[in-house]
Amino acid sequence: MKGIEALDVAGKVVLLRADLNVPLDGTRITDDGRIRASLPTINKLRERGAKVLITAHLGRPKGDDYAERAAGGPSLAPVAARLAELLGHPVPLAADVAGESARSVAAHLADGDVAMLENIRFEPAETSRDDAVRAELAGTLAGLADVYVGDGFGALHRKHASVYDVPAMLPHAAGELVLAEVSVLERLTREPARPYVVVLGGAKPSDKLAVIGNLLDKADRILIGGGMSYTFLAAQGYEVGRSLLEADRLDDVRKVMSDARARGVELVLPVDLVGATGFAADAAHEIYPVTAFPADREGMDMGPVTRQIFAEKLADAATVFWNGPVGVFEFPAFADGTRAVAEAISKLSGFTVIGGGDSAAAIRRLGLPEDSFSHISTGGGASLEYLEGASLPGLAALA
Ligand code: 3PG
Ligand code: MG
Repeated sequence: MKGIEALDVAGKVVLLRADLNVPLDGTRITDDGRIRASLPTINKLRERGAKVLITAHLGRPKGDDYAERAAGGPSLAPVAARLAELLGHPVPLAADVAGESARSVAAHLADGDVAMLENIRFEPAETSRDDAVRAELAGTLAGLADVYVGDGFGALHRKHASVYDVPAMLPHAAGELVLAEVSVLERLTREPARPYVVVLGGAKPSDKLAVIGNLLDKADRILIGGGMSYTFLAAQGYEVGRSLLEADRLDDVRKVMSDARARGVELVLPVDLVGATGFAADAAHEIYPVTAFPADREGMDMGPVTRQIFAEKLADAATVFWNGPVGVFEFPAFADGTRAVAEAISKLSGFTVIGGGDSAAAIRRLGLPEDSFSHISTGGGASLEYLEGASLPGLAALA
């Protein structure tokens, strides 16, 4: 894969696909990690005299056509404002994605300037499954620029027009973030130092079964917590009350558990849970062993015995990959499990990788220094699909 030094960018309009899909509270950005992670490429392109035109998505806008989606938002305006702050340079935002305003913004860029197009997902064609529909939008986007740089690591697993189709139409290269993220994933895949311990959390086993399947060849231990752990516990016959449950995945989960046993990979599940009366920050809660979880409670976090066990299972790890919070860490009363995992990993001297937006946000929210981990990935879904062994459309397009 070529990096940006292989491209001639001076005086050229560079269409830069970035992943600036940050969490928002209304129009306030609650975690700007993805914007900061995009700065190295933007700065390098500016230093080399490029005219940087950024295309990115934000959220999943709803509506049948452009007008409905643009009216409903979210606009990239807060992101453009934050990027301008971080760059100390204005970042005008086009009023559309690939129309008159986009053309005018592109035409007015001076060397070293940066501008953004509006939320690419206002265009329904961006995510279309119809190749011809995507190709038409891609053609319009490509018409705005001379060269293409793909740096939206977190969106590389999406076969979308701005990720997959545009690079085929322009001279292209991978940005600094994509190269850094991919080299970490290669290191996790090719002969990781052992013991290799993987911690998986997040809501649903269905998102993680494929990666667990593939990791059975590579990892020594897989620790499972958070929302997805309740389906694993239910598959073992435990009562999980009103906890998250993917009832249609119980058989798949049993299969992955028996595969793990057969291959000698240790699969570690919670032995105690924090059960609450409902999903709320101030819900009344107690600790229950998984053998005595009440039918009218909802699992919100791992209990203290499990926190201890997870910390012990991590203590000798030479390689760690963690994806997904192991409790409802957004509510301080239910953040102890996620904090325990983060702290245990932060103490290790091996190669430690935090994969994905939510886990990365959890670390920053808990106030742990980012440099106590080897790498904090900007892409959860993309990292997981890479570790599943899948080919990422956006990565294939940059090859
Ligand atoms: C993400 O937030 O995971 C990436 O930006 C991709 O967004 P998506 O899941 O909406 O495609
Ligand atoms: Mg996602």
